[in-house]
Amino acid sequence: MTSTANAPSATSRSTPGVEIRGVAKSFRSGRRDLVAIDGLDLTIAPGEFVALLGPSGCGKSTVLRMLAGLDEPTSGLVTVDGESPGDLVASRRLGIAFQEHALMPWAGVAANIALPFRIAGRRVDAERVAELVELVGLTGFEKARPSQLSGGMRQRVSIARALALHPELLLLDEPFGALDAVTRRRMNVELARVWSEEPATTVLVTHDVDEAVLLADRVVVLSGRPGRVVHVEDVAWRRPRAAGLTREPRFHEVVDRLTALLDSPHAEQDPTPSGATP
Ligand SMILES: Nc1ncnc2c1ncn2[C@@H]1O[C@H](COP(=O)(O)OP(=O)(O)OP(=O)(O)O)[C@@H](O)[C@H]1O
Ligand SMILES: [Mg+2]
Repeated sequence: MTSTANAPSATSRSTPGVEIRGVAKSFRSGRRDLVAIDGLDLTIAPGEFVALLGPSGCGKSTVLRMLAGLDEPTSGLVTVDGESPGDLVASRRLGIAFQEHALMPWAGVAANIALPFRIAGRRVDAERVAELVELVGLTGFEKARPSQLSGGMRQRVSIARALALHPELLLLDEPFGALDAVTRRRMNVELARVWSEEPATTVLVTHDVDEAVLLADRVVVLSGRPGRVVHVEDVAWRRPRAAGLTREPRFHEVVDRLTALLDSPHAEQDPTPSGATP
């Protein structure tokens, strides 16, 4: 395992730190307990960008749900800014893009992006909404409803909505999964740019190793279920990072190392329906 967290760049915003200590999470599955996560430890510094990589079903979305205060660990501790995660949600400092994009089906693109303002009881900042529509390349589609958009367009709405209130904690669950390779890389670079301007403590779940290495300060590799940390890779390259970085040998070295780890047996999913205890 490589060393500890990068010191994040100075920021005037009070981005929160995250502490995940000795966390286990089980789900009741029929008459058994399915152990999704076990012995998970991870500290994320304020303003740090962490990417989570790991096999399907190892608990990545579950980790994000716990950080968003939508779920609780079965044992162990999850804190954001030293507090229970729910407090951050209550103070509207959280931005989240779910794996399933969860848009309002009856509302247009602009109205979906504006939702966080309405939930917070704030006047909608039309300028901010327009800026985000442009950022995610949906100009001209402001009134289009989700059913009239492609999967990738819906994902882009979801990302824009997560950014709407300049969140201090940003949780992104495979936000670019439905995009074509070219759009995906463009969105990666845009996210890197936005993030450099407005650093938020960020946890990105992705299956794309290139994306993780391009965007994150640290890439955390989880084992197959039950998920725990098997490797932490420091990616200490200067920001803002341009797409050209992905053509450099040092980039490929790191990507190859992480890909090999994901291919190795300890990253494979427990084939029994659980790590389960009867
Ligand atoms: N609400 C739930 N009830 C029961 N089991 C659940 C629930 N949520 C998740 N699980 C189980 O916990 C495990 C981890 O699920 P999770 O969605 O966190 O995986 P993931 O790493 O995000 O996978 P993927 O990469 O496929 O999105 C899975 O085996 C899943 O079946
Ligand atoms: Mg998931």
